[in-house]
Amino acid sequence: MAELDRPGGSPAVPDDWTYAPAPESRDIVRLRERYGLFVGGEWIEAKETYETISPASEEPLAVIGQASAADVDSAVTAARAAFANGWSSLPGSERAKYLFRIARILQERAREFAVLESMNGGKPIKESRDVDLPLAAAHFFYYAGWADKLEYAFPNRRPRPVGVAGQIIPWNFPLLMLAWKIAPALACGNTVVLKPAETTPLTALLFCDVLRQAELPAGVVNIVTGDGRTGAALVEHDGVDKIAFTGSTEVGKAIQRRLAGTGTKLTLELGGKAANIVFDDCALDQAVEGIVNGIYFNQGHVCCAGSRLFAQESIYEPLVDKLKRRLETLRVGDPLDKNTDVGAINSAMQLERIRELVESGREEGAEIYQPPCHLPEKGYWFAPTVFTNVAQSYRIAQEEIFGPVLSVLTFRTPEEAIEKANNTPYGLSAGVWTEKGSRILWMAQRLRAGVVWANTFNRFDPSSPFGGYKESGFGREGGLHGLEPYLRFDE
Ligand code: NAI
Ligand code: MG
Repeated sequence: MAELDRPGGSPAVPDDWTYAPAPESRDIVRLRERYGLFVGGEWIEAKETYETISPASEEPLAVIGQASAADVDSAVTAARAAFANGWSSLPGSERAKYLFRIARILQERAREFAVLESMNGGKPIKESRDVDLPLAAAHFFYYAGWADKLEYAFPNRRPRPVGVAGQIIPWNFPLLMLAWKIAPALACGNTVVLKPAETTPLTALLFCDVLRQAELPAGVVNIVTGDGRTGAALVEHDGVDKIAFTGSTEVGKAIQRRLAGTGTKLTLELGGKAANIVFDDCALDQAVEGIVNGIYFNQGHVCCAGSRLFAQESIYEPLVDKLKRRLETLRVGDPLDKNTDVGAINSAMQLERIRELVESGREEGAEIYQPPCHLPEKGYWFAPTVFTNVAQSYRIAQEEIFGPVLSVLTFRTPEEAIEKANNTPYGLSAGVWTEKGSRILWMAQRLRAGVVWANTFNRFDPSSPFGGYKESGFGREGGLHGLEPYLRFDE
């Protein structure tokens, strides 16, 4: 048949192998024109509003409330009332039922959430579909399991809820960060006021629908949208017993200063500049995949991204050659296209920050490589980028870029790799690629990082604690460790 359809003279084998577009339908998402704040189980209007957009097209998606200090106060009051009027004294097995329900509803509505996450945040649909949503549901399932077992988790310590948790999250994994924050808080019997990031409020607002479906008592979870002013009002509020923050080191430090001496519990999950260390005995092709996943996953908007590649000198050339060739096959474009590997940069502000740091890399003398790729006219885009010839002192080797930009450095011995990898104010994650198990353990003991991946990168599991050293913050999320920040103990 194909013979007949072929216009005369064209070759049997096509010379253009580009994919046809395969966009996911947006029909499953029903956006409202405007959203209020979710307080005490009801929607309330904010006086001030702003527009949230799609970073891939700059198309406006909805009008969002900018919560004032008075709105934050209403939310904290609602959370306090819900805490006192039953939630904190509910048996753990009853709290668990709500968490299991939320987890199951997220699974049932996964496609709707995934499409909305990609529309509002710019991340490829295959990531929101295969990573963000399954992990968010898994987090609720996991902490549902702990809700009635806190006495076993902390024997003889009489674990009790802290009270009202104020939670501030970033824009890189909007729903997943919400799950990381809300699931352990509720499992431990706390109530919540959560503020999503200003550029990505939509999945948190859709999540309010899930809370209603699960019949979670009013006021147990309150969602207030807005920018840093709303976050600051939450931190300032006297009625909040615990703050959990994920975001920039700069804001994290300001929050820590503000809360010093107040008795408010605090956990901070801040930036990173992870070393991905590749030894010459590793499986090279597998390492290349890991490097690509480490830095181009989610456009590099990942706090634990493997943004500094340390290549052992003996394999530097083949490694960089293979990496550049692999980069040519990355598909940059429409986040809703199922073939897309690298989506849109989250905001104009973040794009500006990436451009500025990349420019500094050129000026300081690093060599830049970007594969040929067509970037769409509208929206915020940045091509996957590799810098070679990078010195440790360059800004691109020191500062978190939070974009699809890799800095390649080299080392000769394991000792030198450790020395260089730890030469950073951050300490969130690291990767080691080698065939030798003994070397993996030797390296893991010496790397100052909360998570060390071996022969893989950017793997997450709700049972595994995640968090940083040094300027990457303190406190752990996930696992048994992730319960502790949401509990008080008799000691
Ligand atoms: P940011 O730290 O300003 O924003 C994170 C969250 O904090 C947002 O919800 C924001 O509204 C809120 N916030 C801002 N100012 C606040 C304040 N004074 N008090 C309380 N809450 C406040 O991060 P931004 O400006 O979006 O990104 C700047 C850089 O930070 C990025 O380029 C990246 O390097 C880093 N970053 C790291 C993240 C991580 O996961 N570790 C996440 C987001 C950003
Ligand atoms: Mg900021």
